[in-house]
Amino acid sequence: MNRVLSGMRPTGRLHLGHYHGVLTNWVQLQHEHPCLFMVADWHALTTAYDEPGAIGQHTQDMIIDWLAAGIDPSKATLFIQSRVPEHAELFLLLSMMTPLSWLERVPTWKDQQEKLLHKDLATYGFLGYPLLQAADILIYRADKVPVGEDQVPHIEFTREIARRFNHLYGRPVLAEPKALLTHASKMPGLDGQKMSKSYGNTIALREEADVITKKMRTMKTDPARMRRTDVGDPEKCPVWQFHKIYSSDEVKTWVEAGCRSAGIGCLDCKQPMIEAVLKEQAPMRERAKAFEADPARITAIIDEGCEKARRLAQDTLREVRNAIGLTRMVTKPTPVT
Ligand code: TRP
Ligand code: SF4
Repeated sequence: MNRVLSGMRPTGRLHLGHYHGVLTNWVQLQHEHPCLFMVADWHALTTAYDEPGAIGQHTQDMIIDWLAAGIDPSKATLFIQSRVPEHAELFLLLSMMTPLSWLERVPTWKDQQEKLLHKDLATYGFLGYPLLQAADILIYRADKVPVGEDQVPHIEFTREIARRFNHLYGRPVLAEPKALLTHASKMPGLDGQKMSKSYGNTIALREEADVITKKMRTMKTDPARMRRTDVGDPEKCPVWQFHKIYSSDEVKTWVEAGCRSAGIGCLDCKQPMIEAVLKEQAPMRERAKAFEADPARITAIIDEGCEKARRLAQDTLREVRNAIGLTRMVTKPTPVT
């Protein structure tokens, strides 16, 4: 059936890096397969357990960003992980048969602990992060999981868990998913590094047009072009990285020639790119505005998505319980005295 499932942790407003890296891919997939897109709020809690206050707002913002980017709720199912408690039951059942060593050798576990030194991540929940993700995927018997390269070990781990479960209980209840590699977004940030909130170099989806314009007009360029008459080299300029994504061959030729001959100024060079980014965002801002003006519609989309997800999850969970033999343990209801 080729069901697709993916998720994102709600960590704040999305930016162009998310859009070009992930969301355009999701928008495409929703036309080709049944898709489930999940807000992984429990996963957010594994690292934000000491400051969970923003998760609710981030969830709301992220859903609007998804809808703004063109995720169509009549095609894809949008839901929130914590509203499908079946994930937690499958996570618990799988935890019984998950070797600790499998979790300890997942690279993200050590990496993140070393990266987020200000946090105590020597927790049970954080160690279990990949298992919770496995439960997210297995409970829908998803075949395809669109993710970035960093998530591949989690998908491989999920496959191993599925195999182990099926082997232990002697029937093919859980399906082994495949990673659908999202070709890494080449979206650079305003400073030429990878676009990332932690570098403060982002352009948000549905950012105000004048803010975007200002951010781009003040972007650093090739430092050799101190004066308008100095020639430059596009390869040394973050603006050129944007042109590579947004501009036609014609514009790119104009930039290359104009930069190397000082025939154009940097503001001239930025103008078509600013227009391209604004043009890309215009429909997103429109869609977001419509949704923001109608919160009841968002609630309805999410309620419906969560219900649909729950029905699918309950079907798998029933089979999982059967395979383990948990249903047979309940023989007679305990009489009420
Ligand atoms: N761990 C993923 C990330 O950080 C988010 C995630 C949670 C996810 N559950 C998932 C992705 C299930 C794909 C499938 O990006
Ligand atoms: Fe960068 Fe364009 Fe200026 Fe060249 S002309 S330095 S590519 S902004």
